[in-house]
Amino acid sequence: MKPKILLTGKTGQLGSELNQLLPKLGEVIAPKRNELDLREPEKIRQVMRNASPQLVVNAAAYTAVDAAETDQASALAVNAEAPRLLALEAKKIGAMLVHFSTDYIFDGSKKAPYVETDPTNPLNAYGRSKLTGEEAIRNSGAAHLIFRTSWVYATHGRNFLLTILRLATEQEELRIVDDQVGAPTCASDVAAATAKIVAILAGTKGSVHFPEGSETYHMTAAGQTTWYEFAKAILEEAARAPQDLPWLRAATNGRPLIASRVLPISTEEFKSPARRPAYSILSNARLMQTFSVSLSDWRNQLQRCFSH
Ligand SMILES: NC(=O)c1ccc[n+]([C@@H]2O[C@H](COP(=O)([O-])OP(=O)(O)OC[C@H]3O[C@@H](n4cnc5c(N)ncnc54)[C@H](OP(=O)(O)O)[C@@H]3O)[C@@H](O)[C@H]2O)c1
Repeated sequence: MKPKILLTGKTGQLGSELNQLLPKLGEVIAPKRNELDLREPEKIRQVMRNASPQLVVNAAAYTAVDAAETDQASALAVNAEAPRLLALEAKKIGAMLVHFSTDYIFDGSKKAPYVETDPTNPLNAYGRSKLTGEEAIRNSGAAHLIFRTSWVYATHGRNFLLTILRLATEQEELRIVDDQVGAPTCASDVAAATAKIVAILAGTKGSVHFPEGSETYHMTAAGQTTWYEFAKAILEEAARAPQDLPWLRAATNGRPLIASRVLPISTEEFKSPARRPAYSILSNARLMQTFSVSLSDWRNQLQRCFSH
């Protein structure tokens, strides 16, 4: 029998991709924010009890990294308290919770890819709220999987890809941070990897053994880059892409890209309210070893975005 899956955040970058893939694997109940506001504990309990799912996929989050510095209460409510309640309700009904977290739980002082067991030390309020959410899920006793991803973008939503394309229609010169290293990851690749794992969990594709205590996995694009190199790659791909791509036309408002220079700057020169890790490459080895799932290189993912 197909499992009942409760999906949160279906309007988000990742949630909207999952909302397309998960119906192949189960009966998906995907409430809108006005049907399930994660800042309302009683609503969470009510929706969980009414839906009574076998699987909960929590793609909702408070993702405004800079705004979280001054709105910590909202970040904590959505990123920490809501996952805690989802996990507690999941435990009561024997459901599994699939949750997403971030590279920003690390401080970036490491010089080699972070593994799941590395010590955490978030530099900003968003990272702290996500880490508190992870810990609450682990402490709940619910069956769960936590997938940490990074630098997520899509052809919709609010993200670096769409910001660069818009800025490139407005400014001839872009100044972009070149001393933060990470792995830009396309939401559709995270959704596809998650759906493969859900298929395994739902028993439709083989089986898997989770060693006790290893419920956290890194799930990012392969390779590494900086925001500056990522911006240059975006403009290269945009110049080559068919100009009638609907999402590209929407991103540029149909205007030509006039940016002819991209200059590298330091984090110091780009003032932002939240501190960000200088290095946040995550090793995906455990994901591969456990589920035989891997994501392609970041540049490859970006190229694919510009092909349709
Ligand atoms: N974006 C990144 O760069 C990044 C990097 C690393 C990890 N992650 C993690 O990846 C996951 C998916 O992120 P994303 O980029 O897809 O996020 P997103 O595009 O910002 O989408 C967030 C989703 O959460 C919903 N949401 C926010 N507050 C809510 C509330 N109070 N009640 C109910 N729903 C609420 C939003 O609904 P509305 O549309 O109504 O606002 C939206 O559907 C998150 O766990 C995030 O922390 C993201």
